[in-house]
Parts: sequence; structure tokens; C-alpha cells
Amino acid sequence: MADIDKLKVTVDRDACIGDGACCNDAPETFEMDDEDKAVVKQGGSDSRDAILEAAQNCPTDAITVVDKATGKKLYPED
Ligand code: F3S
Repeated sequence: MADIDKLKVTVDRDACIGDGACCNDAPETFEMDDEDKAVVKQGGSDSRDAILEAAQNCPTDAITVVDKATGKKLYPED
């Protein structure tokens, strides 16, 4: 199972300012839509670490990553 399938990854469209860092860190998980906001792609093979790095590098913390198995929020940490 690919790492993306074990994670619930969401982008808060109101918080996203179109920085694009996420698309560089995890290009198979994030892409920009025609409104210059990041959207989550399914089926990519980015590693869990790459996805978490993308979330950490987002300047507005628009990306939330939750472990589906445990329900634990991996980023941002509570
Ligand atoms: Fe948006 Fe953050 Fe990515 S501002 S484009 S979610 S790095």
C-alpha cells in the first residue's frame, strides 16, 4: 500500500496562498489547480516523510496530515 493511502491529507483552501512548496516536496501528492490553490492527488508514490515535509514547509500551515490507522494528527501537531 502506498503511503498516501495510509494518510488523510487535506489542504485548507482558505489558508493556501499558492506558495507551491508542497508541489516541490511531494509532487505526486500535491498539484496546483486553476485557482492557484494546492489540491491533493491520489495514487502517488511519495513517501510519508515527503508528504510530512511538504506540510511542514507550507508557510501558512494549510496542509493537515492524519494517520488513518490511528486517527492521530501528524501535522500540524496539537
Ligand atoms: Fe498552498 Fe502551502 Fe502548498 S500555501 S500551494 S498548501 S505550500
